[in-house]
Amino acid sequence: MFGKKKENLNSFAVDFGAHTIKVVRLKDVDKNPALVTFGSIETPYGVLGSENEDHKRTLAESLKSLVHDLGIQTTNASISLPDSSIFSKVIRIPAQKEADLEEAVFWATKKNIPISPDEVQVDWSIVNKLETSSDGVTQYDVLLVAAPKLLINRYVDILKLAGFTPVLIETESLSLVRSLSYKNDTSPSLIMDFGYNGIETVVAYKETLLFPQTIAIGSSVLTKAIAQGFNLEEVQAEEYKKSYGLDPAQLEGKIYRTLLPIMESIVNEIRRTFNAYKATNISDTPTKIILVGNGSMLPGLVLYLAQNLNMEVEVGNPYSKIYMDPSLKNKLPAPLPGYAVALGLALKV
Ligand SMILES: Nc1ncnc2c1ncn2[C@@H]1O[C@H](COP(=O)(O)OP(=O)(O)OP(=O)(O)O)[C@@H](O)[C@H]1O
Ligand SMILES: [Mg+2]
Repeated sequence: MFGKKKENLNSFAVDFGAHTIKVVRLKDVDKNPALVTFGSIETPYGVLGSENEDHKRTLAESLKSLVHDLGIQTTNASISLPDSSIFSKVIRIPAQKEADLEEAVFWATKKNIPISPDEVQVDWSIVNKLETSSDGVTQYDVLLVAAPKLLINRYVDILKLAGFTPVLIETESLSLVRSLSYKNDTSPSLIMDFGYNGIETVVAYKETLLFPQTIAIGSSVLTKAIAQGFNLEEVQAEEYKKSYGLDPAQLEGKIYRTLLPIMESIVNEIRRTFNAYKATNISDTPTKIILVGNGSMLPGLVLYLAQNLNMEVEVGNPYSKIYMDPSLKNKLPAPLPGYAVALGLALKV
């Protein structure tokens, strides 16, 4: 959305999740990105989406203490913003030449974005260039991103209160594509970031974002269903979710059956996402689902989705583009799929 990092090609990325704040520090981002450190801290309850100054300070304090504990020394920070709060859409625009696009996009923005132009910061990039027709007009698929200035300012304030200068802001979906899509992809994939509040889905191909969409059912809904179904405290319900998940063989399938209606809604939403993507005619249909986010560690999730959507499903490895010194492996906790956004953001050169 803005900025380019230039801090000796080290980077520091922050992902303010609804459940946990995650940070990643990398070095040598331009040639051989290597992990320096990473970590997370629970997000204080009820303060993330708030304009209240005390709430912003509470978040800033959490970030500061995490950074302090990890021994990270930098003043520059990048952040990813949740797609659920941002308008982003791929639109098809005819243009004579690439140079004409700027103006064409300007008019398309006015037509497509349901918010006043004064209230949003707009960014765009070419996703796809279609065959030139006989009259010399090329069609471009353009990703339009319009982020409310209020939202950007809120995150900028929090970073500043924590003592950082924001150097780069982008959407979570762009960060996900950077960590989990590859130049040598043979077909598009659907990346799914299963978080606390929702599931960020994005169709990606050869490191290009093709189609972002949010599903408003997150892992917290699963916990609440267990808590209600068995009259448990959420802390206890959370443990049941993590231990038994969608395994029908556990506890006579009681947890599995409680979670089933929610999983069916999620599968329906994924199907709707596929259909909406197909209707855009941007590229081939994804052949694979790549799961990340801490919610993706739900026991039985991979098998459940593979059987119900009849396609290949795997838990993604967002560390695959990052070198990790063997000595670090003993010092740091095991890497988790919840860091996909922060890692992708940190990889931006
Ligand atoms: N082992 C596990 N099995 C199942 N679920 C898990 C496991 N570990 C964590 N979770 C769930 O993952 C969710 C948090 O995921 P994550 O940290 O990716 O979310 P977030 O980034 O903070 O939230 P959001 O992306 O919605 O802002 C919680 O609901 C938690 O219960
Ligand atoms: Mg998240």
